[in-house]
Amino acid sequence: MVKAAMDHRGIEKLLSEMTLKEKVGQLTMLSGELVQTGPASAPVTSDAIKNGEVGSLLNLVGSERVRDAQRHAVEGSRLGIPLFFSLDVLYGLRTMFPIPLGESSAFDPALWEATARVAAEECAVEGIDLTFAPMIDIARDPRWGRTLEGPGEDALVGQRVARAKVRGYQTDDLAAPTAIAATAKHFAGYGAVLAGREYASVDMSERLLHEVYLPPFRAAVEAGVACLMPAFIDLNGTPMSIHVPLLRKLVRERWGFDGVIVSDWSSIAELLLHGVAARPEAAALALNAGVDIDMMGKGAYVDGLPEALDRGLVTMARIDEAVRRVLMLKLKLGLFDDPYRRCGSPEAIAASAAQPARRALAREAARKSIVLLTNTGATLPLKGSLKSIAIVGPFGEIAGGNSEPPPAERVAALVDQVKAAFPEAAVSVAAGSHVEQPREGGLAEALRNAEQSDVILLCLGERVDMAGEASSRAYPGLPQPQQDLARALLETGKPVVVLLFSGRPLIVPDWLAAFAKAILAVWHPGSEGEGAIADVLSGAYNPSGRLSMSWPADVGQIPIFFAERPTGRPRLENEHFSSKYLDIPNDPRFRFGHGLSYTSFLLSNPRATRWTIAAGETTEILVDVKNTGAMAGEHTVFLFIRDVASSITRPALELEDFTKVMVAPGEMKTVRFALSSDQLRFLGADLEPVLEPGAFEIFVGPSANPAQLQMLELQVRQVEARQAQPSPKSM
Ligand code: BGC
Repeated sequence: MVKAAMDHRGIEKLLSEMTLKEKVGQLTMLSGELVQTGPASAPVTSDAIKNGEVGSLLNLVGSERVRDAQRHAVEGSRLGIPLFFSLDVLYGLRTMFPIPLGESSAFDPALWEATARVAAEECAVEGIDLTFAPMIDIARDPRWGRTLEGPGEDALVGQRVARAKVRGYQTDDLAAPTAIAATAKHFAGYGAVLAGREYASVDMSERLLHEVYLPPFRAAVEAGVACLMPAFIDLNGTPMSIHVPLLRKLVRERWGFDGVIVSDWSSIAELLLHGVAARPEAAALALNAGVDIDMMGKGAYVDGLPEALDRGLVTMARIDEAVRRVLMLKLKLGLFDDPYRRCGSPEAIAASAAQPARRALAREAARKSIVLLTNTGATLPLKGSLKSIAIVGPFGEIAGGNSEPPPAERVAALVDQVKAAFPEAAVSVAAGSHVEQPREGGLAEALRNAEQSDVILLCLGERVDMAGEASSRAYPGLPQPQQDLARALLETGKPVVVLLFSGRPLIVPDWLAAFAKAILAVWHPGSEGEGAIADVLSGAYNPSGRLSMSWPADVGQIPIFFAERPTGRPRLENEHFSSKYLDIPNDPRFRFGHGLSYTSFLLSNPRATRWTIAAGETTEILVDVKNTGAMAGEHTVFLFIRDVASSITRPALELEDFTKVMVAPGEMKTVRFALSSDQLRFLGADLEPVLEPGAFEIFVGPSANPAQLQMLELQVRQVEARQAQPSPKSM
């Protein structure tokens, strides 16, 4: 039995007492099998725990269950080493928040942290020590279903999400009563799978990897993330689970990450299918690359490591290093002090669940995530005097996703919330169609209700399982039956307000964008989504969400994102030899940063406190934001840069900062951004950061739409010592 007062020395002593089998056990994570998040597998047995064959479990939730399994480890195994328990907590455990892509649209790091905090508090009374979140894979291809789980297309947003989430889950002490360990995943480049097809390989330049896909992970490591998960993918010819240059050299040696690296579900065993190695070589390659834990390994580590050791493919020192990191994580989590510390009593769980503040936060998160995409003729907010509202669309099927209440209750909740917001209106409901199939008699019923209503709230989109893992879609749009329903309703001539539920940017057909009176992206908004939707429809909340990912106008544009590098032949409508499609629109339907409000804002007088800076210096960029409308509103202001001439080409726009400001009608506020010379650096030819002198264009505005940006120019003085080559700016 392990003594209560464990410390670093105790860990070394424990390590010295462990058999090889027990060591490999610590490096083995098995499923509790209550939740299925990967291909079927044999569940863990109490004997395996007692024999020290497993060091951690995933997908076992609930205080009593966890306590039970832990008892086998602590009381039944030779050394009594506690297990840790882990789970994917993508958007909450009991209180459900909007999906991460939706939440990223809030552009609100304090909110991102607060929702992670609540998720951690709920986990910490139900036996969970570690979550496999945040997912910080940048994604520029909406065909890929896991856009749902991530921060969207931009690296800066990804970095801010990473920091906020790590702080929210972990606080600054993993042993604090409500802290749990976070996992930065999936390292790295997963969002760029070939043609958006799940689990496919990734081929990308080192530059793109370092400029866009790695920075969120670095931010997570700098924020002290406890754990990191390599992606399933093959990156440029090497599966990530054995990627020595990235895992060992970059993450461990250069970034100094000393936390645990856990494989993704059986990804070490899958090396065989990548055509790289079978056991025991696969085990040796992964361990030597720095992967400590084999999740659901089908024996990859359990059988592979002892054989690899015999054959000299791994050393005992390497095995010890990995075991030490796992034991250290358990120490930091406080599990040696009290292995049951996160197994709350029924009273603690009930008290935790009953907190109204959590529901209020879920409602706030949902409100802030909703993006008003179009609003013709100020249709929204809807007038309080409406006499009849028809809710139409397969909302019940869509809403069954990330929520505890069953679909029927969600439909009832939507009706209740709409009724509460519009007390004078009669509210009818008709599904109209299924999500992917027509519904017998559905259209007729929907049309009957529509005819008798002042306005139609048309709920369209994807079920939650149409995005997420293993849910790539070649046509990320609205399934045909929903399009048919929408057309029929538009033809009635009644005003149609579309609520789009999705886990990704959806391709909105031209006719829908043109003829719907208003379109709202509501994502999958979580436990309090219906209330948040009603708040936005009625104007009780003035929408402030902005897209963190461009919405394509056509599938042929994918991948489409704002930070593209310039071409020597930019698009000119009247020039044949210019960069454009001839057969589809060339702009995205909705750009990064797009999101309307019920009020209007005017940005003016962009200025800098210093117009010239040198290395190590900072300037401030200021811009005045005036609310020129009639309703208070929150405005998001983005700051982009463009390096006018540089030794390596730079994207036409690079996001450097964003901030939100609440402005009353008629009021003007000044927004300030600190801009340091470090933010003007880029990765030079050797992929090391460099600052080159010369002009930089600074843009401020409400989105990445060039037409909405205001520009000022800044000069960088002084060449850095390491830069021997003449810069193009001096040419
Ligand atoms: C997913 C991971 C997840 C793991 C455990 C895998 O299939 O790729 O994101 O954390 O399962 O559920």
